[in-house]
Amino acid sequence: MTGQPEIRVLFDEEIIATRVNAIAEEIAKDEPKDLLVVAVLKGSFMFAADLARALHTAGMAPEMEFLHLSSYGRETVSSGTVTVLRDIESDVTDRDVVLVDDILESGRTLRFAADMIAKRGARSVRVAALLDKPEHRKADITADYVGFECPDKFVVGYGMDMAHAFRQLPFIGYVPQEGDA
Ligand code: IMP
Ligand code: MG
Repeated sequence: MTGQPEIRVLFDEEIIATRVNAIAEEIAKDEPKDLLVVAVLKGSFMFAADLARALHTAGMAPEMEFLHLSSYGRETVSSGTVTVLRDIESDVTDRDVVLVDDILESGRTLRFAADMIAKRGARSVRVAALLDKPEHRKADITADYVGFECPDKFVVGYGMDMAHAFRQLPFIGYVPQEGDA
């Protein structure tokens, strides 16, 4: 491949690392019991990996799980239907669970995941969202831990994709559109 398309940086590596460490400290302060961190795939994989290491540094010993949900297909606007592509394997009974996702937008994905885990008997279900886009909320859900409030742009990088591209970027950015400064 020759060259890379221009991506404008929104949150760089350093500021992301600072926020991820702060979120880990917030989670530790809540003194979770038998903590299970569930990464909602695919977009959260990089955030979840960094958060796991930050939780270790904060003195925690979380177990990690992976829940692959799909609500989007190839579109960039939510279809509203959530399906489980790959379920977690761990028993959540009487455990404090933290769901980790890249972006809380309509909230449908995380509402679905939180209800599913709660029904299985978790002691608590909390949500850690790297980015919050509150103006697009459709479901009744708020994040307990938030990295950044996100401007109303389609963002990529640090795990997040546009048609499967850009997940590898170490920063969060956006593809500039006409009219962007
Ligand atoms: P929702 O909260 O159910 O609408 O789902 C949010 C999910 O949509 C996120 O976890 C992402 O996978 C995807 N998504 C929403 N906005 C963006 C974006 O700006 N860039 C990349 N993915 C996005
Ligand atoms: Mg996602």
